[in-house]
Amino acid sequence: MTTLDPSAVRRRFPALVAQPEVVHTCAPGGTQILDTALDAMRDAAVQANANQGGAFPASARVGALCDRAKDRFGQLLGSEPEGIVFGPNMTTLAFHLSHALDERLATGGQIACTRLDHDANVAPWLDLAERTGATVRWIDVTADGRLDLDTLADAVTPRTRLLTFPLASNALGTVVDPAPLVAAAREAGALTVMDAVHGAPHLPVDRRAMGVDVVFCSPYKFFGPHAGVMAADPELLASLTPDKVRPSPDTGPERWQTGTASFEAIAGATAAADYLLDEATLDRIGAHEHALAERFLTGLDERPDWTLHGPASAEGRTPTFAVTHRTVDPQRVAQVMAEHHVNVYAGHYYAVEPMRRLGLLDAGGAVRIGFVHYHGPADVDLVLAALDAVG
Ligand SMILES: Cc1ncc(COP(=O)(O)O)c(C=O)c1O
Repeated sequence: MTTLDPSAVRRRFPALVAQPEVVHTCAPGGTQILDTALDAMRDAAVQANANQGGAFPASARVGALCDRAKDRFGQLLGSEPEGIVFGPNMTTLAFHLSHALDERLATGGQIACTRLDHDANVAPWLDLAERTGATVRWIDVTADGRLDLDTLADAVTPRTRLLTFPLASNALGTVVDPAPLVAAAREAGALTVMDAVHGAPHLPVDRRAMGVDVVFCSPYKFFGPHAGVMAADPELLASLTPDKVRPSPDTGPERWQTGTASFEAIAGATAAADYLLDEATLDRIGAHEHALAERFLTGLDERPDWTLHGPASAEGRTPTFAVTHRTVDPQRVAQVMAEHHVNVYAGHYYAVEPMRRLGLLDAGGAVRIGFVHYHGPADVDLVLAALDAVG
């Protein structure tokens, strides 16, 4: 395994080249777009300049583009191409799926959610519970921001019909091991939904090997354009009835795609999948990011005014860090860091449950510093220097 050279990687990202003075540690809110993804979007608009189903070449190119996208996302997510559904973003796809699950949640059924998730993997299931009369049970989070597996047995019972969880927390960086959750869901005969939106730029995803029924991800979090992807067991998709217009396809993943898809976004997303599969590769990304995480955590340890919320070591986490200053409010911290050309978000980043659980929700949340593989050690040092500038 050859190591990643961050300066070579950075050259692949036109926005990073255009703004060399900025450290984009806002990555968990959306990464910069890869050169080949930008090219693919432009090519799609110029060459695949049509809708699907026409007898002319441009329309055929749209069909080919979509078929290739399903193949590549199937490989990236360890899932069958027949179960790959594209949408505008993960949140819309999750609500869409939740509507189709009404019939599975008979009254008296239960849904298990975690207190570690982004709200996009909570609100659709709370709504589902409200519509169907199901009860929601929670898998809790420990004080250091990991899933509290001691609460699993109470949360998942023989009446559980659905268990949802994240591959990784967009707020705290915690990585979740799906195995015990999937085992509990299987015993109960429950469906499993895994939100891999935060995990996908950092960790391999293999839906079938993980034993999960549905995986969500968002290509704009892994170097592609704004879009969402659902990778589901094709048999599950076929067994459900999604909201749809009558003339749209009655079979296959297209049955789940409402209206005309953004073919440009699908083309760009596929180029991002190509990049993760064939170029950067997640094993190299993981090793590189682990070194960044260790460097950052060592630096933070030397700064007693700062508190890290979430896993304290570089193991079992992504290089995403929620930090607070002893006295300075998170929004103010983000402003000072921006003055030092370090882009970060402050607040709860829609991760309402974990932020409430850690007592941060009503205290302005935290500052989120998120590294990805296009950052290098020098970026970590610039971020630490910006923290020092806060006070
Ligand atoms: C972990 C996680 N899940 C879900 C979402 C929602 O994704 P989308 O913006 O594609 O709806 C996000 C976005 O920040 C996220 O970080």
